[in-house]
Amino acid sequence: MRKIGFGVIGCGGIANYFHLPELCNIEEVNVVAVADIKEKRARITAGKFKVPNWYTDYWKLLEREDVEAVVVATPHPTHSPIAVDAIKAGKHVIIQKPMATKVKDAEIVVEYAKKHKELKVMVLPFVYFDNPYFDYVKELICNEHLGKVCMARIRVAHSGPEKYQDDVAKMFGEEGGDCWFFDKQRADGGALFDMGVYSFTMANLLFGKARRLISIMDTLDKKASVEDSAATIMNMETGSIVVAETAWTQARGANEIIIYGVKGMLVWEDFFGNPIVKHYDSSSSSWKIPSLSREKEPQHTHRHFVKCIIEDAVPIGTVEEGKYLVELMEAARRSSEEGRIIDFV
Ligand SMILES: NC(=O)c1ccc[n+]([C@@H]2O[C@H](COP(=O)([O-])OP(=O)(O)OC[C@H]3O[C@@H](n4cnc5c(N)ncnc54)[C@H](O)[C@@H]3O)[C@@H](O)[C@H]2O)c1
Repeated sequence: MRKIGFGVIGCGGIANYFHLPELCNIEEVNVVAVADIKEKRARITAGKFKVPNWYTDYWKLLEREDVEAVVVATPHPTHSPIAVDAIKAGKHVIIQKPMATKVKDAEIVVEYAKKHKELKVMVLPFVYFDNPYFDYVKELICNEHLGKVCMARIRVAHSGPEKYQDDVAKMFGEEGGDCWFFDKQRADGGALFDMGVYSFTMANLLFGKARRLISIMDTLDKKASVEDSAATIMNMETGSIVVAETAWTQARGANEIIIYGVKGMLVWEDFFGNPIVKHYDSSSSSWKIPSLSREKEPQHTHRHFVKCIIEDAVPIGTVEEGKYLVELMEAARRSSEEGRIIDFV
C-alpha cells in the first residue's frame, strides 16, 4: 500500500486534538515529522503520537523528501506564508481556517497553488460540511421542499477560546493565561476570523455568493484587542437575506442554522457535536426529524485529502473558495469600521 508521508506544522490544540489523532488512524498515512516554534510542544507532541522527527524550524520539516504533505495548524496570520513555503517546497497542503486574515495574503496562496497544479491544497473548513446533515439541508433547499427561502440565520458561537488555550498550555506543562486569539498583533482578526468563518462558509455553500453586506462587530466582554461579537447581514445571489452571526460571548457553545422558507422551515442545531435537524413542513403542519449519521466516514477530513492525493482529484475547499471567505471577512470588518454597506457587484 502506498503511504503518504505527512508533516504537521504547529503542535498546539488543533494539531493534538484533531489532526494528529485522525492522521495516525489512517492506514495510508505515515506521520514523519512535526514542527513548532516552542521546542517543548514539538518534542512532547512527537512523543505522544510516536512521530520520529520534530523541529522548531518548519523549514527543516519542509526540506525532508519523505514529507509529501503538510498540515498548517499555526495562528491565523501565519497560514498564508507557511502554506506558500510548503507549496514552494513541493508539498501538498491542508490549511487550517482562516486561509488568511488579509485578501492580499490569500491572493499569494492562490498564485502559488495555481503555479503548482500538481499539488493538492485543501482549505478548511469546507470539507467539514461534506456530511449527511449538510446534504439533507442542501437537498431540502435545492428541491424547493422549503419553498422560496427569503431569510436564514446562521450562528456559530461559543464562550471564547481562553479556557481551551489554558488546557493546551496545561497539556505541555506551561503556565496558562496567554491567549493569542485575543491579541490583534498575533491573531489579526477576532471571533469573526476564528468562528465567523464557519457561518460564512455555510452561507456560501447554501446560498452562493453575497451581492452586498453590512456588518457590526464589537469587543463587548473579553479583554481583547479584536472583536468578540459580530453580526453580518448579506443579500445573497440566490435572493435570500442571510444573517451570519458569531461570538465568543455566550455561556456555552451553541451553533444553529434556521432557514425560513415560505413552505417550510429548517432548524439545524449544534452541527459539530450532537446535531439535530428539524424540518417543518407547512403542507402537513408537522415537524420531521430525520435520522442521519454524523459523518460519511471516520476521519473524513484527512481521508478525503489522502484520497485526492492518491487519485489525483481536487479536494473540497479550494484556494479560490478560501480566498472568497477572506474577502467576505475583510469586507465585514471594513463595513463595521466605516459604518456602511459594502457592494460586491
Ligand atoms: N478547524 C477547527 O476545528 C479549529 C479548531 C481550533 C483551531 N483552529 C485553527 O487552527 C489554528 C491553530 O489554532 P490552535 O487552537 O491549535 O492554536 P494553538 O495556539 O493551540 O496552537 C498553535 C501552535 O502553533 C505554534 N506556532 C506559532 N507560530 C509558529 C510557526 N511559525 N512555526 C511553527 N509553529 C508555530 C504555536 O507555538 C502553537 O503551539 C488557528 O488558526 C485556528 O483558527 C481550527
